[in-house]
Amino acid sequence: MIRGTAGSARLIVFLLVAGGLSVVLVAYTILHQPPKFPADADHLTASAPDRCLECHGPSGKRPRGRNHPQNNQCLSCHERV
Ligand code: HEC
Ligand code: HEC
Repeated sequence: MIRGTAGSARLIVFLLVAGGLSVVLVAYTILHQPPKFPADADHLTASAPDRCLECHGPSGKRPRGRNHPQNNQCLSCHERV
């Protein structure tokens, strides 16, 4: 070995950080699911994104959160309960 123990210590730290990051990202992806929308009167009639945004748009009565994905194809992520 040319690099000796300092090199392998760095390699181990790198592997721990990279492995830890992968675990965090996978856990986030699995746990961070889009909520289903309820089958109530509001949602039984609405089916198209422009209808959804009447209530969930920025000036609607229940706006999406600030960190919501900037994607308006609602039904590709959300489904009815
Ligand atoms: C007439 C107003 C209205 C329309 C149209 C509407 N929503 Fe909603 N939505 C609400 C309200 C009010 C709530 C929260 C109260 C509840 O749970 O019923 C809600 C809740 C939700 C939730 C659950 C949020 C949570 O915190 O669990 C999702 C997801 C959602 N709506 C998506 C949609 C999608 C997608 C559409 C279009 C297909 C849509 N909504 C159309 C008023 C509306
Ligand atoms: C790319 C996937 C995706 C699309 C497309 C999408 N959403 Fe969401 N939505 C999510 C996720 C993920 C959450 C959970 C956010 C959280 O927990 O921070 C969410 C949460 C919500 C909530 C709950 C309140 C909030 O912001 O946390 C509402 C209401 C909602 N979405 C409505 C909509 C509507 C209406 C559309 C279409 C105009 C839409 N979403 C399109 C992924 C999506």
